[in-house]
Amino acid sequence: MIKEQIVQLITQKRARIGVIGLGYVGLPLLVEFAGNGFRGTGFEVDEDKASQINAGISYISDVPEGKVKELVDASLLQATTDFAQLGACDALIICVPTPLRKTKEPDVSYILAAAEEIKKQLRRGQLIVLESTTYPGTTDEMLLPMFEETGLKLDEDFLLAFSPERVDPGNPQFQTHNIPKVVGGVTPDSTECAASLYSQIVREVHAVSSARVAETAKLLENTFRAVNIGMANEMARLCYALNIDTWEVIRAAATKPFGFMPFYPGPGIGGHCIPLDPHYLSWKARQHGFDSRFIGLAEEVNSRMPEHVIQLVADGLNDERKAMKGSNVLLLGVAYKKDIDDVRESPALSIIDRLRTKGAEVRYHDPFVKEVRFDDAHTQGGDEPIMSVPLTDDELRATDCLIIVTDHSSIDYKRVCQLAPLIVDTRNALNGDLRRDSKARIIRL
Ligand SMILES: NC(=O)c1ccc[n+]([C@@H]2O[C@H](COP(=O)([O-])OP(=O)(O)OC[C@H]3O[C@@H](n4cnc5c(N)ncnc54)[C@H](O)[C@@H]3O)[C@@H](O)[C@H]2O)c1
Repeated sequence: MIKEQIVQLITQKRARIGVIGLGYVGLPLLVEFAGNGFRGTGFEVDEDKASQINAGISYISDVPEGKVKELVDASLLQATTDFAQLGACDALIICVPTPLRKTKEPDVSYILAAAEEIKKQLRRGQLIVLESTTYPGTTDEMLLPMFEETGLKLDEDFLLAFSPERVDPGNPQFQTHNIPKVVGGVTPDSTECAASLYSQIVREVHAVSSARVAETAKLLENTFRAVNIGMANEMARLCYALNIDTWEVIRAAATKPFGFMPFYPGPGIGGHCIPLDPHYLSWKARQHGFDSRFIGLAEEVNSRMPEHVIQLVADGLNDERKAMKGSNVLLLGVAYKKDIDDVRESPALSIIDRLRTKGAEVRYHDPFVKEVRFDDAHTQGGDEPIMSVPLTDDELRATDCLIIVTDHSSIDYKRVCQLAPLIVDTRNALNGDLRRDSKARIIRL
């Protein structure tokens, strides 16, 4: 049987692993396989990324450069734009983007493009795993029929599974090897084989009964976050209206040792996952006549946070008899979360756009992000890219209002509090001591 054949290759580490899409998810995964003795090939459409890998260069901060070089030198790791080599791999893992269309409907075109390439090279004895976050049913409704059009048969010739990625960029504690992996095959053989593959590189594999369950589990995880962050954001606005310290409230509630899990408010949600993934679930639900109200509500509350931040800035400037128009506003951080360089869907983009629309002079400092480019959604205030400015004493003194949008660890917040006149802290980056000794007036979310 084909399952035994592939499992044997895997357990003997003779299986050749192909990862399609070498981004935040695909590159760490491929490096993990290669680091465990498998020969790994990365398939990319971006020639620049493929050449960097082959030159031993890492462009993902969680993947150490030395590691890439060591594995490339040992001939365990390579990258290519030549998809004809897909046929040489025994296991193929798809890690391409799954964005939303402007209509907020799932855009599975990248998965389709990757699957078309696989289809051209599909041969007996291959395991295909989809890792890209997607709606329930993608693996068995979309991928399976495509692959069976080749005349090859599931279970007899090839195996197919879904296993969601859970990587948390910038998290030093949890990385690929110690994050449990959920695996759901289209058939029991597919589940077993995919579980055997991942058990080579992660400590714990949790097998489920179908690809749909695995797809839905991933969407539940991220919808859970979106909804709870939405509640924390609503709480922050409620507390602001009542003049109560939200952060102190959450700290107090979090002392309960059961039945409560703290979530924190912020300037809005960002990244490639939390703002997007719940839409994959609600879209699929709508196809079946079901209206997922929590998802809609969370989106509504979360997407209003940048506007709330603008209101805090306007209130702060107003108290100083200043107008937003012509004021110098400095954003501290533009990445969507601390200590990473990712600005995808970052609320900073919306904040910058709104400030510029109101006539503010906007600059930013981010130790991880040298330049911010604006796509169609953020062009009202001009579409020229803006560059990070050095956080000099003069820069801090010259600002009318500084907004802490991302609480990067390397920032000297003490100096910021001594030199900037007005700070809007959207992340509770300034602790009690800093606030007490601050020369700046501080407005907290
Ligand atoms: N970034 C995260 O934290 C995270 C966490 C969990 C899950 N995910 C999911 O994983 C998937 C990938 O996300 P990512 O953050 O790694 O995206 P990414 O944009 O960082 O990387 C995707 C890569 O795929 C390449 N690519 C696009 N089309 C291709 C094709 N047809 N063939 C080969 N390569 C192609 C792109 O050039 C890019 O390098 C998404 O579905 C995402 O939702 C992401």
